[in-house]
Amino acid sequence: MKKKWLIGNWKMHGNLAANKALIASIRAELPELDEGAEMVVCPAFPYLYQLAELTRGTGIGVGVQNVSDHLQGAYTGETSPLMVKELGGSFAIIGHSERRQYQGENDGLMGRKALAAIDAGLIPVICVGETAEERDTGRTHDVLARQLDAAFGYIRTAHDKIVLAYEPRWAIGTGIAATPEIIQAEHEFLRHRVAIRDKDFAARLPIIYGGSVKSANAVSIFSMPDVDGGLIGSAALNATEFVSIYRELL
Ligand code: G3H
Repeated sequence: MKKKWLIGNWKMHGNLAANKALIASIRAELPELDEGAEMVVCPAFPYLYQLAELTRGTGIGVGVQNVSDHLQGAYTGETSPLMVKELGGSFAIIGHSERRQYQGENDGLMGRKALAAIDAGLIPVICVGETAEERDTGRTHDVLARQLDAAFGYIRTAHDKIVLAYEPRWAIGTGIAATPEIIQAEHEFLRHRVAIRDKDFAARLPIIYGGSVKSANAVSIFSMPDVDGGLIGSAALNATEFVSIYRELL
C-alpha cells in the first residue's frame, strides 16, 4: 500500500522547553509509529539540531521550512541544504505560501531551491496553491500548473524523493479547510499534470493537503483517493491533535 505522510510545520513557534515537551507528549501518546505512515516535524532553523536529537531512534523525521537555492557560498543569512542534512534534517518545505507572500519568493526560486534540496539529499516538500482571488476568478488551474511546472522544470523526472503539497492560500490559518471535494479535484489535477511528464512517477508521488486540517476534519479529507496525507500548521503544535490526525491516516 502507498505510504501516507503527516508533516508538521511549526512555523515561527517554539522554544527549547516547548519543543522538548511537545515531542515528549507526541511520544507518550504514540510510542510507535505505524509502518504505513511517516511523521515529520519541521521546526524553525535554530531548533533543527535539538529536534534531530529529540527524535533520534523514534522514526519521526525532521525537516526545515526553507533552504537556500545554493549549496555554499557568500549568501549572508542563508542556510544550505547541506547544513540541514549534516544537522539531521531530511526534509525541506519549499515554496510555502507564507514565503511567497512575505518574502517575495517566486516560482523560479522555488524550483532552484527544490533542486538544491535534492542535490543535498533532502526530500523537498513542494508547496503549490492558489489565492482566494485566483480561485474566484477561475484561475486556480492556471496557477497550479504554472507553480508545478516551475518546480518540476528544475527537477530531473522520475525522482522518487519528492512530496507535493496542495495548500490553497485561503485555507491556511483561517480555520476553514477546503472541502474534501475541492481537495480531491485539485489533487487529481496535479497528479494528471505530473503524469504528462511521467506516468509512473505521478502514480507514486505523495500529494498531501495543507490548510486548517484538524482532527475533526482529517477523516473526510484523508478519505479522498488522491490525498496521501497532510501538511499541518497550528494543529501540529498540539500533541493530542497531531497524533489524532496521524491516526486518521491509518
Ligand atoms: O504548512 C502548513 C499550512 O500552512 C497550514 O497551516 O494548518 O495552520 O492552516 P494551518
